[in-house]
Amino acid sequence: MNIIFMGPPAAGKGTYASLMKEEFEIPHISTGDLFRAIASKNDPLAVEIKSYIDNGLLVPDKLTIKLVIDRLGKADCKNGFILDGFPRTLNQAIELNRTLNDLGKKIDKVILLDVSFDLICKRITGRRTCENCAKVYNIYTMPSAKGDICEECGAKLYQRKDDNEESIKVRYQTYLDQTTEAVNYYKAQNILVNINGEDSTQNVFQSIKDALKGE
Ligand code: AP5
Ligand code: MG
Repeated sequence: MNIIFMGPPAAGKGTYASLMKEEFEIPHISTGDLFRAIASKNDPLAVEIKSYIDNGLLVPDKLTIKLVIDRLGKADCKNGFILDGFPRTLNQAIELNRTLNDLGKKIDKVILLDVSFDLICKRITGRRTCENCAKVYNIYTMPSAKGDICEECGAKLYQRKDDNEESIKVRYQTYLDQTTEAVNYYKAQNILVNINGEDSTQNVFQSIKDALKGE
């Protein structure tokens, strides 16, 4: 199963992609996580990537597409993959399609998580992320049982630098301006499913699983 999670910032893409990963045993590929790992290094590329992320802007397509294509070529993607936060432009979607065609693969379903801007703002202030495994928590809605320590790997939780009110406005606008075309690309192919992302985590996850089963 080859799946894409789309949706505005803090819609829950990472949350549900990691739950799917556990259930389906296929890799969860988050371009945001991959870029944050690159940005944490100490070289010129890290500085460049960090400036895009911190300003809520998209990393240029050329770099982003190469990163994902290289990742999809790894052996663990043989039986499927979950893309989280990619594609985000029409160009990225077209290039992904071209690559998958060459590999004799296709996208089975695109899950679009619908969440209002008001709720996004509330979620963003409470989000905490594991600095080691990138697992996502929320101090209000999904706290770690171990406080500011990750339940999975024991590393410290931190607040992302782009999780603030100013950045979220830019990221949301970037989403509307640049990702709408990519969403419409999948809508036209009839593989896009809209999911209400405002319900409880359990209910949202169930709706996603039902959608993947075609119910
Ligand atoms: P990225 O890391 O992908 O950020 P984003 O799209 O803004 O999405 P988020 O990770 O903020 O949110 P999410 O939807 O994963 O929500 P989450 O599950 O954490 O990208 C960061 C940056 O990298 C971009 O700005 C850009 O610079 C660059 N980049 C990445 N991909 C790129 C691309 N393709 N092209 C170019 N540049 C790219 O949930 C949010 C919170 O809500 C959590 O605290 C969670 O616990 C909580 N929550 C979730 N669901 C529920 C629920 N049902 N009830 C209660 N709480 C919930
Ligand atoms: Mg995420």
